[in-house]
Amino acid sequence: MGNLYGLIGCPVEHSMSPAIHNDAFKEKNIDGYYHAFHVEPERLKESVEALKLLGVKGFNVTIPHKVSIIPYLDELHETAKIAGAVNTVVNVNGRLIGHNTDGNGYVESLKEMINKSVSDHKILIIGAGGAARGIYLALTHQGCKEIDICNRTVTKAEELIHECPFPNNSKALTIQEAEDHIGGYDIMIQTTAVGLHPYTDQKPLSLRNANKSAIVSDIIYNPIHTALLKEAEELGLTVHTGVGMFVHQAALAFELWTKQAPSIEKMTKIVYDKLGGTSC
Ligand code: ATR
Repeated sequence: MGNLYGLIGCPVEHSMSPAIHNDAFKEKNIDGYYHAFHVEPERLKESVEALKLLGVKGFNVTIPHKVSIIPYLDELHETAKIAGAVNTVVNVNGRLIGHNTDGNGYVESLKEMINKSVSDHKILIIGAGGAARGIYLALTHQGCKEIDICNRTVTKAEELIHECPFPNNSKALTIQEAEDHIGGYDIMIQTTAVGLHPYTDQKPLSLRNANKSAIVSDIIYNPIHTALLKEAEELGLTVHTGVGMFVHQAALAFELWTKQAPSIEKMTKIVYDKLGGTSC
């Protein structure tokens, strides 16, 4: 009998995780099946207990359960402790271990785009919520010191920098300050919800004064080409879409469960085919 894997979140109906994981099981000749489970917040505890009881080998965790699941797990891996959130759970002999592959998945996807080491770049993170936190801590953990954070609520950016346990020269900025100094950054990473479907014409700031050699990265992948990335393309800047982070976090989770690395190219193609976009 094959092993069961899955995703818990609310909503999960439009998730692309089942498609990419089930394809990877086939590609690797693994007898596994991945299913998306819709779990309402008030049923989280009993749902996690049920998955454990039924011997589900591993599952992903998405909005809104990434932080609230922590008390129901048996142990946290360092990645989840650092991020303060869990996106992947591994069932090890009946013990549920929480991991987080979001931050490292993002950094892996960024590394595909750049020639130099990621720590040689001056980076601006736009946003200071949960997603920004995972990326900021993964980058500083990997030795990037020159990262500033701008946010609509600047105190949240200050808090994030203050809580960072890794060496950094980070500054917290208002959106206006970031826009005024945007020419000084090599990589801009957009982590807010601004531009997400259905508000696809919105962007958090203007790239007008950005350096022509800069990379603009948006973690939103619905739509693939957000208003910010469209502006970047019009200005001739290099664009990094949210598909990269989505695929790499999934690949790292798949590896934790099966000890096998799936094809990043194949996962990427499935996502682009489903979203009807073109890669860039
Ligand atoms: P996530 O887990 O997706 O990061 P979150 O923790 O709720 O979600 O964080 C959302 C981020 O998007 C925050 O940086 C938020 O800014 P505030 O801290 O000022 O709330 C940002 N954000 C959401 N809507 C925004 C908007 N309309 N304009 C600018 N920033 C916005």
